[in-house]
Amino acid sequence: MIKKFVYGNPIETGAVVKPVEASADPIQYLTELEMNGKLIFNYEMENDDVVYGLGEANGGLNKRGAVYRSFCSDEPNQTEDKQSLYGAHNFIVISGMINVGFFIDCASEVRFDIGFTSQNMLNIHLGCPDFTVYIIEGRNAYDIVKQFRELIGRSYIAPMWAFGFQQSRWSYMNEDEVRTVVKKHRDAGIPLDAVYLDIDYMDGYKDFTISEERFPNFSEFVSEMKQEGVRLVPIIDAGVKIEDGYELFEEGRQYQLFCKKGDGTDFVAGVWPGKTHFPDFMNSGARMWFGSKYKSLIDSGIEGFWNDMNEPAMFYTEDGVNEAKEYLQNFDFNTNDPGKFFELKDKLTSLSNRMKDYESFFHNMDGRIVRHDQVHNLYGAYMTRAASEAFDNIVPDKRMLLFSRASYIGSHRWGGIWTGDNQSWWSHLKLNIKMMPSLNMCGYLYSGADLGGFGCNCTRELMLRWLAFGIFTPLMRDHSAVGTRRQELYEFGDTEDFKNIISVRYSLIPYLYSEYMKACLSNDMLFKPLAFEYPNDNFACTIEDQLVLGESVMLAPVYEPNAVGRYVYLPEDMLLVIFKSSSVRKYQIMKKGMHYIPVAANEVPLFIRRNKLLPLCRTSQCTDEMDTSMFEIIAFTDDNIEYNLYEDDGISKDYDNPDNMVQFAITDVDGVMGAVSNKTIVKLSLF
Ligand code: GLC
Repeated sequence: MIKKFVYGNPIETGAVVKPVEASADPIQYLTELEMNGKLIFNYEMENDDVVYGLGEANGGLNKRGAVYRSFCSDEPNQTEDKQSLYGAHNFIVISGMINVGFFIDCASEVRFDIGFTSQNMLNIHLGCPDFTVYIIEGRNAYDIVKQFRELIGRSYIAPMWAFGFQQSRWSYMNEDEVRTVVKKHRDAGIPLDAVYLDIDYMDGYKDFTISEERFPNFSEFVSEMKQEGVRLVPIIDAGVKIEDGYELFEEGRQYQLFCKKGDGTDFVAGVWPGKTHFPDFMNSGARMWFGSKYKSLIDSGIEGFWNDMNEPAMFYTEDGVNEAKEYLQNFDFNTNDPGKFFELKDKLTSLSNRMKDYESFFHNMDGRIVRHDQVHNLYGAYMTRAASEAFDNIVPDKRMLLFSRASYIGSHRWGGIWTGDNQSWWSHLKLNIKMMPSLNMCGYLYSGADLGGFGCNCTRELMLRWLAFGIFTPLMRDHSAVGTRRQELYEFGDTEDFKNIISVRYSLIPYLYSEYMKACLSNDMLFKPLAFEYPNDNFACTIEDQLVLGESVMLAPVYEPNAVGRYVYLPEDMLLVIFKSSSVRKYQIMKKGMHYIPVAANEVPLFIRRNKLLPLCRTSQCTDEMDTSMFEIIAFTDDNIEYNLYEDDGISKDYDNPDNMVQFAITDVDGVMGAVSNKTIVKLSLF
């Protein structure tokens, strides 16, 4: 049951696709309070209520006890105290005696104080007077999430090759460097499907250009790599370099497609290329124009993109720099007031992404002029929309890989997300684990973190443990920043362990892809908290570091340094499978309850649930070489069970074709259990 309450004159964000009549009744569950002209909603939580949601946010699965600020932020230093990350996903679910979900559809800043100021009070602070609230009632949290997902529409569907392992670095500087990366993976037998081109593939960081010097024969090079089973994925940044003669700049200026200042001039900010303008993605014409520019790269054979810096991130503005200069000129170096030192430091370190700058430019939303801060959270989402809608025209029958850094609910239909600039910290592996279900609740199924961490230097042990979780996330990409230790897997000494771990991913792809596709097609989740599958098991409901993955699997990743294993709680009897490689495995049937499981750093543990099965194919070097004519089925059952494997060509859009289902059945024929399938050959390992 969903109710809609409209405040003021909200901007159409595009988050919701299912029509809901606005209610004329007073709002339910929430009480309203006005402070300094701004609205705050209050909700009194019970002691035991759990609060889920908020998608890409810091903290645990249960969001209680902290403040979260929905304001897409360029925040690489994601320490525990940070309130905003790159996405803004205003959906929360209260789960307890009363189960209710709130979606605050507001393109401006929203602050959720979930029992931080006052233990049992939830306060939602609205940054602008124009917004819509959706209130969802349901049987339990999972039911509410499913209703919400229906409300916001089907998630973006990635091509199957994007489930392969992807290697990135800021930046591979030229063709030869990319060739070397591919060769070293192939030589070491580490499977690989994609290599990323970070900003240096461009000519002077100008979007939709290619450096002649570094990549002289771009389309030939793209097809050479494709012959190797490797796709190249270029980055596209939001800012357009100001440079006379540069087509994108000239056109944007001529046709008034950039964001404007109050005086009608184009807004200027410093980003990678130096001075840039921001395309007005809030304007449909600007979206069509920018989107059409992807065509040249697609014509060169490119099949995927990552959109970046689209919060939008600003290093500085002229106004900001001038203010800082003036401050410095007037600074009294003889002061003995220590407060002045901190003021000085703040002035010079807060030049990037200033609120004052976000308040100084405007969008033309097809006739409605809106100040940026009022729609800040939509900017990156609408860049994704520009690309996605363009792809529908350029390659209507083909799926493209597309993911973004900034996001707002609604963009889950246009692309995936990666979780931005994390660090090579154990705490960020843990954050990655806990964030996946929250992202799924908000519609982001094709998602993942920079494996191994973007900033700082990753250790071999952290890389191995991170991969042992990362091989389950749809986006599986190793990415790292310039200046950090090289993070390609062959850079950590002996490659055997890495080869083994990635090969496990490739044998799991049919299951992962199937569960992902089924979740997309039925508005469901791929990663679920235990509480969603075992709602009557009070202890299971408190667990945040174990996840249910699709229909058959439970995960319990190791995320501590020097660990030789971990405690795992089993809410039912399960089969533990420890992969040493895709083909070398250890099995153990385990009883419901708490267990200590030894797991070495080069092993991948997973649990198969009772009366469920896991199909595995033979591993391969890339998804183009995947062979699904034969499966090995690992089943934990003594009963007749079935599994429907979703399988398609991975690239076209014929999703709802019934032929896409491969049925596996474990049946008892004359007292002997065997496996059969309607399409493929199966070999059974029964427990
Ligand atoms: C941003 C991105 C990062 C990229 C870098 C250079 O920090 O988040 O992934 O490598 O810019 O383009």
